[in-house]
Amino acid sequence: MKEEILELEKRALGEIGSTLDPSELETLRIRYLGKKGLLTSMMKKVGCLPPDERPGVGKLANLVKKNLSARFKETRDSLGSGRVDVGTTFDVTLPGREPVYGHLHPITLVIKEVCGIFTRMGFRVVKGPNVELDYYNFEALNIPRDHPARDMQDTFYISENVVLRTHTSPIQVRVMETRKPPVSVIAPGKVYRRDSDVSHTPMFHQVEGLLVDRGVSFGDLKGTLTSFVRQMFGSRTRLRFRPSFFPFTEPSAEVDILCVLCGGKGCRTCSQTGWLEILGSGMVDPEVYRFVDYDADKYTGFAFGMGIERIAMLKYGIDDIQLFFRNDIRFLRQF
Ligand code: DAH
Repeated sequence: MKEEILELEKRALGEIGSTLDPSELETLRIRYLGKKGLLTSMMKKVGCLPPDERPGVGKLANLVKKNLSARFKETRDSLGSGRVDVGTTFDVTLPGREPVYGHLHPITLVIKEVCGIFTRMGFRVVKGPNVELDYYNFEALNIPRDHPARDMQDTFYISENVVLRTHTSPIQVRVMETRKPPVSVIAPGKVYRRDSDVSHTPMFHQVEGLLVDRGVSFGDLKGTLTSFVRQMFGSRTRLRFRPSFFPFTEPSAEVDILCVLCGGKGCRTCSQTGWLEILGSGMVDPEVYRFVDYDADKYTGFAFGMGIERIAMLKYGIDDIQLFFRNDIRFLRQF
């Protein structure tokens, strides 16, 4: 009889273990431990055994009963009262729910791409302060006191001699002040101007480039910027260098690419010219070298600066600069 009791216990434990439903568990408990349950009936038979066997078997039966009762209670507690419907639980073969990944802002992506192109050409990424001295933002860049760029309308003044930088060009001066040629740097960052309308935001981004060494020519400028434009906009992009003026470069040139929208026929975006301006550049003016103590007879160099939002708009065909700052997730998700 002992074996029978142990066999019964084994079976009961197995069944309890595979039960997920509290009511099913209760049915099971009644089947084993109820008044007419399997174990109960067996215990009733102990009285019919020969007297010398009774104590041993009785003791075992009681132990098993205690054991099973404890296991029933334990299992009931762990299942709680909530029904677990086997039909609708967990299908381990279902694909997982895909997490939504964040990603970099389109402006950050374009800055990384521009800097990547130049670092592969040997330029080093450098930074400068957003709150800048008038000296670096204007004076050392040969922008005289009466220059229109200094107008209160364009510049955010912190105090008489401190401004929010209006371009990334002051970084050029800071670099030349602390390093001797050869230098070749690329400097991305935020810039600020008192301007806000459909095509202007008071804060936007620029990337500045500077290369100074012995024997640097305008041909180097053209080659470097042509290579950049082709990597950025495609190897067959047509571009032109158009004479221009900047106080800190001489001669100066602006770079245009053939209008990405009309292909040069003339449209609203390119003001019917067929061309789109994408950056300013030129040979560093010897006047600037005077401020940083470079020998203009020994060294020549070129510099360039471009607006990142503009590059991004042309590259991705975006017609509203405000989209970059509105943080509409439907827009941002497309990059
Ligand atoms: N700083 C100029 C701007 O904000 C852009 C620029 C033009 C930078 C010519 C240069 C340069 O380095 O050589 O419009």
